[in-house]
Amino acid sequence: MLTKLLSFANIGLDGEIITVEVGSTPGDSGICIVGLGDTAVHESRQRVRLALRSSGFRLPTGQTTTVNLAPADVKKIGPRYDLPIALGVLLAHDVIALEQKQFAGTLFIGELALDGSLRHVSGVLPATIACRKQGIRRIVVPAVNGPEAALIPGIDVVAAENITELLAILGGEKPAPEIPPPASSPARQADMDFADIRGQQHAKRALEIAAAGGHNVLMSGAPGAGKTLLARALRSILPPLTQEESIEVTQVYSIANRLPSDTPLLTERPFRIVHHTASGVSIVGGGQMPGPGEISLAHRGVLFLDELAEFPPHVLEVLRQPLEDRCITITRAQGSFTFPADFLLVAAMNPPQYTTGSPERIRRRISTPLLDRIDLRIDVLPVPVDELQKRGTGEPSATILARIVAARERQCSRFRERGIRTNKEMGVRDLEKFCPLDAPSEHLLRQAAERMNLSARGYHRTIKVARTIADLAGADAIGVSHIAEALQYRQMTGVE
Ligand SMILES: Nc1ncnc2c1ncn2[C@@H]1O[C@H](COP(=O)(O)OP(=O)(O)O)[C@@H](O)[C@H]1O
Ligand SMILES: [Mg+2]
Repeated sequence: MLTKLLSFANIGLDGEIITVEVGSTPGDSGICIVGLGDTAVHESRQRVRLALRSSGFRLPTGQTTTVNLAPADVKKIGPRYDLPIALGVLLAHDVIALEQKQFAGTLFIGELALDGSLRHVSGVLPATIACRKQGIRRIVVPAVNGPEAALIPGIDVVAAENITELLAILGGEKPAPEIPPPASSPARQADMDFADIRGQQHAKRALEIAAAGGHNVLMSGAPGAGKTLLARALRSILPPLTQEESIEVTQVYSIANRLPSDTPLLTERPFRIVHHTASGVSIVGGGQMPGPGEISLAHRGVLFLDELAEFPPHVLEVLRQPLEDRCITITRAQGSFTFPADFLLVAAMNPPQYTTGSPERIRRRISTPLLDRIDLRIDVLPVPVDELQKRGTGEPSATILARIVAARERQCSRFRERGIRTNKEMGVRDLEKFCPLDAPSEHLLRQAAERMNLSARGYHRTIKVARTIADLAGADAIGVSHIAEALQYRQMTGVE
């Protein structure tokens, strides 16, 4: 008998439905898998054979079982096909009796352990989303992946501990176990509160604007001035993810197999700290079968590059495209893979006089095009000792966060019909529509653009920052003071 079961291959953030066809013919070659599988797919033969034996099934001898994973031009990666292969083998040999309707319209993913139990696999959330898009009404996954699949409404989730339990559920002898509601990530434990940072009003204000509107930040200052401290404190004022953003971020972590199994839904904004020794591939993503890199793990959150001048120039160059497009496309022979990469870039650096290289070398590294994409550039000056000794004068993070949340709400309601969430996402046409300038603002901006030699991009970005400043102030229209403050952040003594 020929059986067909559905499974799923992740490709970038999306993927493709895979049909697992299993048939048997006389012979003695055991199980043979075709259809562009990697090593883990081919090793499925051994896992399936032993898992079925441990679960008490005997396969007939003198039979060759052929497993075809279709379409043949999509590369199949990893052990996730074990489950549909095992079921297909049982059905093809009539070892179990399930009617077509008991497995049709169902997508199967799961790795088998040799004792027949089902192991955690990556990419379950994107697979469940694909089910909804394609009208597949049920997904079968390992028990540990159940809560992740259950995040998507409207899809029946069957989450089983092992193959025996699964067959009992599919055969109707046992009800599908209830899936516990998703535990969200534990309450944020920010390691730093703005109230603990003395002085630095200017830098704190810039970080508030950055968190409110999603604008990129570069801090320059002498070693020990407090740059790393400030950047880490930013975490405490990031607004919570919306439900939709949570699903997006969780998808990326699911693909990257970085989802903690006890918290299937990520609800905290990512904050990724990248070291300058990290490879280009680990930052932007890639590999033979491309997976998400740091910029995608920072999606809807923060990417923090400390000691910016130490990063190799080619690594900084590759950040340009995602900074503009808010996603990254990686091209391989098998096709191109797109991952989301909408992150807030926070960078810190020592000014030229404190680094081993010449100012010229630093300028070369931090190229003008990269700098042009950084809206808030701030000089961080060391806080004088008597200021450091003052206690309890700073505003707590919770107060700042409340302003940011309010500013985000203003942005959301303004852009509701446009389908964007933050000021930084505005295109040129949005600027015309949402950011009309009065005559004094326009005059100030024109003057400054000439004096500061602003590029067109710099000009537009200044207006976006001004819009965020106005949102923080609860103002409907951008005024001259908002433009003036925004312009102030485009100048930095260190690098230009
Ligand atoms: N404004 C400040 N308030 C409180 N502590 C500070 C401040 N600035 C610096 N420090 C202290 O100095 C240390 C060094 O700061 P750091 O952020 O690592 O400097 P940088 O990254 O600029 O070299 C911090 O760990 C912190 O203890
Ligand atoms: Mg530092």
